[in-house]
Amino acid sequence: MTLASLDTPALVVDVPRLDENLRRVAEDLAGAGVLLRPHWKTSKCLQVARRQRALGAEGFTCSTPGEVEALGEAGHRGLLWAHLPVGAAKVAFAVGAVRRYGTTLMVDSVEVAEPLAAALSEAGLVADLLLEVDTGLHRTGVDPSAARLVASGLRGLPSLRLRGVMTHEGHLYGFGAQRSTLDAAAVSSAQLLVAVADDLRADGHEIDIVSVGSTPGLAAGPYVPGVTEARPGTYVFGDGNQVRLGSCELSSCALTVLTRVVSSQREGTVIVDAGSKALSSDAVTAESGYGLVLGLDGAPLPDVSFARANEEHGFLVGRGTDGLRVGDLLRVLPHHACATVNMWSELVAMDGDGTYERWPVVARH
Ligand SMILES: Cc1ncc(COP(=O)(O)O)c(C=O)c1O
Repeated sequence: MTLASLDTPALVVDVPRLDENLRRVAEDLAGAGVLLRPHWKTSKCLQVARRQRALGAEGFTCSTPGEVEALGEAGHRGLLWAHLPVGAAKVAFAVGAVRRYGTTLMVDSVEVAEPLAAALSEAGLVADLLLEVDTGLHRTGVDPSAARLVASGLRGLPSLRLRGVMTHEGHLYGFGAQRSTLDAAAVSSAQLLVAVADDLRADGHEIDIVSVGSTPGLAAGPYVPGVTEARPGTYVFGDGNQVRLGSCELSSCALTVLTRVVSSQREGTVIVDAGSKALSSDAVTAESGYGLVLGLDGAPLPDVSFARANEEHGFLVGRGTDGLRVGDLLRVLPHHACATVNMWSELVAMDGDGTYERWPVVARH
């Protein structure tokens, strides 16, 4: 079985590359004594989770209730729900997730924690809790200067056991290709988090988890003394954003959209059968459009760019399109793997020997 025999568009995983990405990161972190709790939002695929687990992942990080439930029902434990459970439905889900799977919860304020504590207490449960700290993204997370105050407020609440601190160093995506500056910022974020953990310990909190999490920061942040856990997500597949940030090589990217030229009516443009429902335009670096256009061999096509998209049509432009004919197969490296996977119901997992399996993508919403 070859790529050429698949119908298009298809979201294809290169399994040997996937396995190599999983193995390398698992080994590096294990060598440093840092636990791996990968973010599962990237693959949302139980086959990928099984492979991560087999290589020593201690558990998984999740964004949505659907991800927590899918992993929990599949028997995975060590789950961290890394989103703020606000509103009655989320609080009820959190209580169920603690009861059914022993899920660890995350808060960034006493305000978020109070209804949780009340509901857990009423259910007769105690949950492990991480305090989210903002180390530069300025999204959610308590400012480091206010962490002691929030932690002391949490101490007064029933049914929540503060176990540690965590951060998502998403601001590293803003560093473009300045690799040394990016690594230095990853180290600073981790050091800030470790310092908060030390402050909380000094106040008498039993902090045994100090958790960083991002793929751009993966080369540096987890190796800062005092960090105990890493939660990368995108590392499983890599993508165009990670290549441009210097977090991985094009040759290790494991996820591409297979697409076919379906029309070439205008000079300088060809139309492919993958559009905005097949690819994400979420480019966090200077690149625009819908991804990097590759040949079937995985090498970038010179002078061809994926300029724009309708839902099921992609517009490839540039001098290089002159050589493309109706029926030609191409691959597109997505800018953002996680956002791309979420648009698909299945991954076509191609093994090195030409065999393939269809792996469902679950918990998409
Ligand atoms: C809380 C949290 N942890 C970990 C990650 C993983 O980061 P990345 O996608 O850079 O691997 C994310 C990504 O959004 C996140 O929000």
